[in-house]
Amino acid sequence: MSSADKSQPAKRPRRRPPTREAEQPDTIGGGSTATARRLRFAAVQPASETEIHRLVAENVADIICVLDLNLRVIYLSPSVTRLLGYSVEEALGQYWDQWIDVALTPECAAIASKAFRDMVASLDRGPEDVFKSWTTELEFLRSDGSTLWTESKVTVPRTPEGRPIGFIGIVRDISERKRTEEALKHSESQLRLLSQRIIEVQEEERSRIARELHDQLGQELVALKIELVSLAERLAGVPPLRDRARSMLDMVESLDATSHRIAVSLRPEILDELGLVKAIQWYAEDFERRSGISCPVEAPLDEPVLGRQTATCAYRIVQEALTNVWKHSGASQARIRITTSDNTVTVSVSDNGVGLDFKRLPDTPSLGLLGMRERASLAGGKVSIRRNRGKGLRVLANLPMNTTDTRATAAAQ
Ligand SMILES: Nc1ncnc2c1ncn2[C@@H]1O[C@H](COP(=O)(O)OP(=O)(O)OP(=O)(O)O)[C@@H](O)[C@H]1O
Ligand SMILES: [Mg+2]
Repeated sequence: MSSADKSQPAKRPRRRPPTREAEQPDTIGGGSTATARRLRFAAVQPASETEIHRLVAENVADIICVLDLNLRVIYLSPSVTRLLGYSVEEALGQYWDQWIDVALTPECAAIASKAFRDMVASLDRGPEDVFKSWTTELEFLRSDGSTLWTESKVTVPRTPEGRPIGFIGIVRDISERKRTEEALKHSESQLRLLSQRIIEVQEEERSRIARELHDQLGQELVALKIELVSLAERLAGVPPLRDRARSMLDMVESLDATSHRIAVSLRPEILDELGLVKAIQWYAEDFERRSGISCPVEAPLDEPVLGRQTATCAYRIVQEALTNVWKHSGASQARIRITTSDNTVTVSVSDNGVGLDFKRLPDTPSLGLLGMRERASLAGGKVSIRRNRGKGLRVLANLPMNTTDTRATAAAQ
């Protein structure tokens, strides 16, 4: 190798930018790849635009159906065999209403017939009322007797002058989506049953503990008090011991009061014995005393006759609404209103506090408002939470007075 060879790096031959032809060697005799591709396409290209449309229609998964203005089937794509099991030949030439009687469930055939009657009628109307398209879910009957849920869309193709030339229907298989919807509905109804049962069990449990506290513990405390009174009397001559017995009596009395308070907060007997209005009046007075927030109650003079579920639901909603007033509102007043009309009892709690910015509800999971809504909906009613007219918040519950068994309804769904 010469010295010049050593000092100069060897020159690499300059590469020409690759051409598409150079990248892929031609496989068809002599010409470029692009030309070959064109030639290959030309060999299979459909003869006409009609042919292209036929190819498209025959290769989509949906069923395409074309009717003339007399509603006679003039084209049906072969996918009808795959999706519904009918042959194209058996439907071609038939009138639409003959075919839908065979291929749709009776309810859907009635829907489709009416829709087509309306569509045909609308074709004669002015341009502003012109029929554009109709989309609905229809359940088809397959040739083997099974059914298929579809989304079916009908449009009216028109000449450039706007004259209708027939109908084009596109039928899409949505059975998978329907199955998912059904499964979702089923699990929703199961969840509703579960939450209703949880609420019922919670109420039963509260009542049971309240009863035990009242009937069992209450009776035992009374017996203890009687014993202590008699002991204190017997110890009258021994002042230090007598005073110990009296102080024990005070403790038992305070214990009795505490157990009574717990029993009442679990489930006030007054709710079952005297009714919702009295129970709410009693609770409002107690709330006012404990919180210092004034709590007037406006209610009908006669106690409305309510089902147990409705009364419990209304009472618990008022309890939670007042607890919220105390915890969050800074209000000086919470006004309760109970009214009845048309077999509905309406209970509202309005405060004059800071109110609630619904866009800024805290991220932390809170169950109060959610629980109110859930309880009301299980009792067949609803709760709405709005800004109060003046300031503050208003919780409004509308509940049916005579609750039907929503469990049976939910189970039937
Ligand atoms: N009367 C009210 N005034 C102002 N804000 C309220 C009022 N009631 C509820 N809120 C707001 O709505 C939020 C949700 O209330 P919710 O009762 O669901 O939850 P919580 O009281 O925070 O917790 P939980 O009830 O689960 O113990 C509260 O955190 C509070 O910000
Ligand atoms: Mg709360």
